[in-house]
Amino acid sequence: MSKLSRRNFLRTTLYSAAAAGAVSPMIVRAQDGVAANDKINCAVIGLNGRGQSHIGGFINNPNTVITYLVEVDEAIGKVRCDQVEKRQGSRPKLITDMRDAFADPELDVVGSATPNFWHGLSAIWAMQAGKDVYVEKPACQNVFEGRTMVAAAKKYGRVCQVGTQCRSNPALINAIQFIRDGGIGEVNFARGLCYKRRKSIGALGDYTDRIPGSVDFNMWTGPAIITDPKLTRPNFHYDWHWQRLYGNGDSGNQGPHQFDIARWGLGIMRHPNSVITYGGRLGYQAERNDPNYVDAGDTANTEVSIFSYGDKTLVFETRGLETPDLDGAKIGVIFYGTEGKLVQESYGHCVAYDKEGNVIKEFNGGSDQFHFDNFIEAVQKRDPSILNAPILDGHLSASLAHLGNASYYFGEKNKISVPELRKALEDVRGLDDDVATLDRTVEHLKANGVDLDVTPLSLGPTLHFNPEKEEFCDNSSYAAPLLNREWREGFVCPSAEEV
Ligand SMILES: NC(=O)c1ccc[n+]([C@@H]2O[C@H](COP(=O)([O-])OP(=O)(O)OC[C@H]3O[C@@H](n4cnc5c(N)ncnc54)[C@H](O)[C@@H]3O)[C@@H](O)[C@H]2O)c1
Repeated sequence: MSKLSRRNFLRTTLYSAAAAGAVSPMIVRAQDGVAANDKINCAVIGLNGRGQSHIGGFINNPNTVITYLVEVDEAIGKVRCDQVEKRQGSRPKLITDMRDAFADPELDVVGSATPNFWHGLSAIWAMQAGKDVYVEKPACQNVFEGRTMVAAAKKYGRVCQVGTQCRSNPALINAIQFIRDGGIGEVNFARGLCYKRRKSIGALGDYTDRIPGSVDFNMWTGPAIITDPKLTRPNFHYDWHWQRLYGNGDSGNQGPHQFDIARWGLGIMRHPNSVITYGGRLGYQAERNDPNYVDAGDTANTEVSIFSYGDKTLVFETRGLETPDLDGAKIGVIFYGTEGKLVQESYGHCVAYDKEGNVIKEFNGGSDQFHFDNFIEAVQKRDPSILNAPILDGHLSASLAHLGNASYYFGEKNKISVPELRKALEDVRGLDDDVATLDRTVEHLKANGVDLDVTPLSLGPTLHFNPEKEEFCDNSSYAAPLLNREWREGFVCPSAEEV
């Protein structure tokens, strides 16, 4: 019997048996899917950067085999195919349209390391085709598609893990448990940091002739509208992160890791009630020594968002210019408790301090592989409840970036002086000293040669959000279009109700 027939036989027989009450649904879930001697067939989509970690994650798991590589840049795809063949001993099929892999009933699992704007559709199409999905962070590029992804996982009974791998790292698991056990007292406030130097991606221009000939541009662009000119940044791959049509800036790139950890530590399983953001894309004129320089990116490289959950506050700071750390962290989270603080310094290291600043405990350990193994275990057991980063968590964490950016994008033209900004922040009344955070931000910008009289910060509106309905409240409803995107024909994301 072929693997497919064997699987179908197993599924049909067990489901009939379950329906007849012969076996418990739990047993069906445990046995449905992959028979003991079969390997789990995997496809990896998007192979330039992070896709290599997906390849490693699946190859290093003894229960999986990569049968498809999907890449719209043929040159990259061929190199990865050779590499996979060498490492696993069998050559995957290399294709450019992910739907061809999804149509194969022998395929079990999909890893999507595509650019952000493809996460939603790749995961939704895969789940509709009955595949389990490991999708990169940010889980979604907007709130609308995140909702659909959550609904699709539920409707199709799929396992959907998000690539916030810190969730599987002992350093974080133990540190969060320490917070939960009261190790630093009561904690109602966390500060996420993305202090990550990002140089200018080059001047805004027409670089259409730099689209690599090996790229299927239609499939790369997918749900995004095709612009004229087609390419306005010098580098085709990766730098899309800093153009909002495709990416989400660093608060939506590095940010989802730290948003996720902050939410986890604060014990928050919902969207916030409100957000206000100030920021800018600053410093590149000084970096290029040209006051008229216009960088090709249009996301903020300096961004402070203040989220309110009523009794809890989350502040997120993004800095793309040179900066020292804060309390030992550059890319991390600081939890402020009544008895001390806990600092996530890296993916595998956290430190807890008492009120006097003495180290009381350190937490170590982590590896990407743990997260892939956790996913595969959930696939084998047909049990999404054992996932460390299920799609709902990914959606909630990514949405923080989207809501923070929504306030920034609306306020973009509202250029404001530092004294006016300081005054406006006095009304925010969260748990942070918002003026002190602003003063640190201003000092940081000045240290990078930014003249805030010439290129001022901008302040967005306070956007009020209804966490249950996942929509802006009436007084903020003008921001509703930013919860969704304009979809290109043929690549339209269904709503949560339609999926
Ligand atoms: N979890 C992590 O720590 C981590 C680290 C790095 C990147 N990421 C995430 O991984 C994703 C990819 O990042 P990257 O740095 O590799 O970006 P990248 O632009 O370097 O690579 C993306 C690849 O996907 C390919 N691609 C685009 N559309 C495709 C499609 N429709 N079908 C198949 N292939 C397609 C591109 O040609 C490119 O090779 C991003 O969403 C990023 O946020 C996560």
